[in-house]
Amino acid sequence: MRDEDEAITDDRGPHGHAPVLLREVLEILRPAAGESAVDCTAGRGGHAVALATAVGPTGRLAILDVDQGNLAYASARVSEEAGFAPYAVHANFAGVARALKGIGGTPGFSADVVLADLGFSSTQMFDPARGFSFAQDGPLDMRLDPTSGTTAAMLLRSLPERELADILFKLGEEPLARVIARKIVAVRGREPMESTAQLARLVREAYGPRARRSRLHPATRTFMALRIAVNDELGALRSLLEAVQSAAHSVADGATSWLRAHARVGIITFHSLEDRLVKHSFAELVRARVAAPLTRKPVVASDGEIAANPKARSAKFRAIELGHSDRHGRRSYDP
Ligand SMILES: C[S@@+](CC[C@H](N)C(=O)[O-])C[C@H]1O[C@@H](n2cnc3c(N)ncnc32)[C@H](O)[C@@H]1O
Repeated sequence: MRDEDEAITDDRGPHGHAPVLLREVLEILRPAAGESAVDCTAGRGGHAVALATAVGPTGRLAILDVDQGNLAYASARVSEEAGFAPYAVHANFAGVARALKGIGGTPGFSADVVLADLGFSSTQMFDPARGFSFAQDGPLDMRLDPTSGTTAAMLLRSLPERELADILFKLGEEPLARVIARKIVAVRGREPMESTAQLARLVREAYGPRARRSRLHPATRTFMALRIAVNDELGALRSLLEAVQSAAHSVADGATSWLRAHARVGIITFHSLEDRLVKHSFAELVRARVAAPLTRKPVVASDGEIAANPKARSAKFRAIELGHSDRHGRRSYDP
């Protein structure tokens, strides 16, 4: 479970977001001069600049983000700091293969290195207009892509009580899911549910005196669950993992795909449900002997990084390398 209270700690730095596990990502994914890299979650460009610098102007970088503001910021930052422009695509990484088909000429972009750093950036979190935070009042939006999809307010208006409770329980591991869902349904019958402060107040009321015993703000888990539901974050991750699975098998069969032979793929998660999906999907590829693990256990942030950027506390990084491996997951070639 992600400690969302960390997310409200100010770790913004000069670009509004500090990239987590940066050194570890570079050491493990080993982007090299002339290679092609994809950053599926450009955000504020911290990882993207490092990938661009490593592949250099003889290499290529594609960056994706559902948030056009972040995408434009990261793209400008890469151009300025790495000295060449990335291919910037406003797309959900759920459709990464399709998104890359359209760039870099025919047959499209094929990657040596892929990174996804899941969740939201600090700039999104700290902008009250985006509705992610209960610390400042704002509209109950929570869409990572504010140009499309269903807002949190719409979900709260339309979902039956049982479905609301399931979302809070499954995605937020909220122990009072049923009580909070009941309260939401009672309140929405009397007044429109539109603001983050209103929802935070309602959850606090549902907690009653138990709020004092809670280490986290009582609304932490409710906000996290709604954000994951609004953006279908687990669905998008499943699709990304399926795209990696399918490409790994194509590559093993000698076919072309959006991943190159020996592509390295790494994913940073912040939530136990996400980490479980990544762990199982990567293990399946290793069992099928079409990939080798680059991380035997999830890589976590050092104490120093956590002290500087508390949000890194819940980050877990796992990576694989495509290519045939033996039954112990060892690569059958000399890397
Ligand atoms: C944790 S931030 C990435 C930060 C980035 N690595 C950096 O160094 O600045 C996550 C970013 O991914 C984007 N994002 C989240 N889910 C996405 C998805 N399914 N497809 C594309 N972008 C997504 C968010 O809009 C946000 O900008």
